[in-house]
Amino acid sequence: MKTVVLEQNQIYTGSLILVNAEYPLRSVPTDIAPSVTGFAEITMESCAAEQLQLILDKIGARNMIVPVSGYRSKAEQTAIYENSLTENGADFTQKYVALPDHSEHQTGLAIDLALNTDNIDFIRPDFPYSGICEEFRKAAPEFGFIERYPAGKENITGISHEPWHFRYVGFPHSMIIVEKKITLEEYTEYIKTFRQDCTLRYSYKGITAEVFYAPAKTEISVNSTAYQVSGNNTDGYVVTLWRDNNA
Ligand code: DAL
Ligand code: ZN
Repeated sequence: MKTVVLEQNQIYTGSLILVNAEYPLRSVPTDIAPSVTGFAEITMESCAAEQLQLILDKIGARNMIVPVSGYRSKAEQTAIYENSLTENGADFTQKYVALPDHSEHQTGLAIDLALNTDNIDFIRPDFPYSGICEEFRKAAPEFGFIERYPAGKENITGISHEPWHFRYVGFPHSMIIVEKKITLEEYTEYIKTFRQDCTLRYSYKGITAEVFYAPAKTEISVNSTAYQVSGNNTDGYVVTLWRDNNA
């Protein structure tokens, strides 16, 4: 058993950080890479990009699905926001463009995807609930991605329905979020009901993980050789312990 001290600044980094109108981003991504081979200018955190490409390969979607917007610096998000205000007005912009520092695109963990057609809309690309795009949506959770702004959850996410915007949160969190039909906002709260002595156990295809929440400035005891810690960007950490399936 090993003791791990979780530092205050770890709250603001990791694949599970919640970034929305209430919680601004307080870190910058450190390992940015091309989101998809052949689209060098559209980037993501490298761990998310790797998984994105695995999904596209699994469903044979290269050239059918293209990345439209990935990592954005604060300056880029500001320009997109201001440009949208001018072009589309305040009502549209509030629905579809997050304020600078409140956009998931600044985390490097979000990607907007489009069905590959001649005229791709930059802010609202077409990503239908049918065909290859729906195949992507179904395959995504196994690789750590969720559709981040679903219909019917606008009052929770603060953003209108965006069928094209996917967020990397990591496995198994993506699977749990999709199975429970909840948002990242709801998952962040839900996971707080699981603590070190009462974990959420999740098994899938021979992989078992135990997940729990630890409040800020804490020490955890880790009795697994493999574990991950992500901040939630609000008040603590989500710990994922990987288990042998027989453990
Ligand atoms: N379109 C999403 C909400 C963003 O601007 O981050
Ligand atoms: Zn987006």
